[in-house]
Amino acid sequence: MIKYTATTDENEVSRQKEYMKKAAAYVAELEAQIGHKPLCCVTTFGCQMNARDSEKLSGILTEIGYELTESEEDADFVIYNTCTVRDNANQRVYGRLGFLNSMKRKKPHLRIALCGCMMQEPAVIEKIKKSYRFVDLIFGTHNIFKFAELLVTMFENHEMIIDIWQETDQIVEELPVNRKYPYKSGINIMFGCNNFCSYCIVPYVRGRERSRDPKEIIREIEKLVADGVVEIMLLGQNVNSYGKTLEHPVTFAQLLHEVEQIEGLKRIRFMTSHPKDLSDELIEVMKNSKKICRHLHLPVQAGSDRILKAMNRRYTKEQYLALVEKIKTAMPDISLTTDLIVGFPGETLEDVEETIDIVQKVQYDNAFTFIYSKRTGTPAAAMENQVPEEVVKEGFDKLLKVVQDTAKDRAARLKGSVMEALVEEVNEQDASLMTGRLSNNMLVHFPADRSLIGQLVMVSLDECHGFYYTGHIV
Ligand code: SAH
Ligand code: SF4
Ligand code: F3S
Repeated sequence: MIKYTATTDENEVSRQKEYMKKAAAYVAELEAQIGHKPLCCVTTFGCQMNARDSEKLSGILTEIGYELTESEEDADFVIYNTCTVRDNANQRVYGRLGFLNSMKRKKPHLRIALCGCMMQEPAVIEKIKKSYRFVDLIFGTHNIFKFAELLVTMFENHEMIIDIWQETDQIVEELPVNRKYPYKSGINIMFGCNNFCSYCIVPYVRGRERSRDPKEIIREIEKLVADGVVEIMLLGQNVNSYGKTLEHPVTFAQLLHEVEQIEGLKRIRFMTSHPKDLSDELIEVMKNSKKICRHLHLPVQAGSDRILKAMNRRYTKEQYLALVEKIKTAMPDISLTTDLIVGFPGETLEDVEETIDIVQKVQYDNAFTFIYSKRTGTPAAAMENQVPEEVVKEGFDKLLKVVQDTAKDRAARLKGSVMEALVEEVNEQDASLMTGRLSNNMLVHFPADRSLIGQLVMVSLDECHGFYYTGHIV
């Protein structure tokens, strides 16, 4: 096993580009050996930030000569970009690793790599070293820019390579990225999280909050727009605290204002907003913007003040509802979505009623409802009053029903109106239809030609089918 320590060079990008050349030679060698262009498969398990990292991984893989495939079975190199926010994400990785092992027996040149948030947990690394010895390469969230270098080490060795960093203050710009969609793209504006919500593992696996320089962000977006992108999503665990740690502090609202000026850019989204940091300035910028989409994902997590306090969310139910009121007054047409957790330690069914009350008062367009998952190392995992499974289940089912009923009512409200949609792809079930996304993030399916992909069209929303519409272009 080869273990690294953290070292980087002043000119990291050119160093990595040298490694890309070296890696390309190994991939060419493999091509000669197997008689076709080697295929690679990048599988994403986590959130939008994880997905953006995967685009960076596949950018480097295509740069060095691999061709991308969606099928792990066909691949000569498979990399899992993992997530550990809830235990079921981890279980999925272990389950699929068993399958990769059987593939590797049939195809000995298959190389397997693991990266992402799960790899930042020492217990996971121990388990893989013990029970999944066929894995070739393991790295974490802080050193993904070294991927080319790690690949070279992997090609030059036949033992497990492990490189995990505990922290980094580095942000390496300008490495190749392979975008999944030609017309839209995510953009990291910050990394890490400083909030330490007591249930959450993200601050431990993604490190401290670091913001990118606004000039770098603007430059990246300008390049994307020149390359055909019309919609961007600014990504961060808490975008509302963007810029606070920069040498010359900038607010998120100021950044949005700058981004708005970029010519050719049509739509701006962002994710995620922590309610405690959402400023009046941001509401004002959103309200006056022609490009910022009418959608705000504003995770509330729970409705009971006692639970919110134990979660370390730093707002009360009343403060959250007042914020929602302010947002709705400024933008009556806004769609609000949220995340909810049921079963946090000490939560009773009466507490869940408070969450239900929030859902009914706010009228979310959608809410992602999660069962609390105990994450080793977080304060909540050490709390004694963990909730029995039956109680969690009862609260969860009740909440889910209210969430679904509210969302259905909300969705129907736009029936008959004409709205702008970004044409995204051919409908999965019916190839005569195209799928478009509304500003509020809902989907609409309508007859159209695929040549419209990436364009904004006006669509009449004729029928509502629960969570999506069917309609026609006007
Ligand atoms: N930074 C974002 C959330 C990232 S994690 C924010 O603060 O809004 C996405 C969602 O996963 C969270 O909003 C939360 O609802 C859920 N989540 C996080 N940790 C969890 C845990 N231990 N158990 C269940 N759900 C969790
Ligand atoms: Fe986790 Fe809270 Fe940070 Fe979101 S804000 S990533 S929930 S610690
Ligand atoms: Fe998962 Fe990491 Fe995102 S834990 S939710 S992939 S930041």
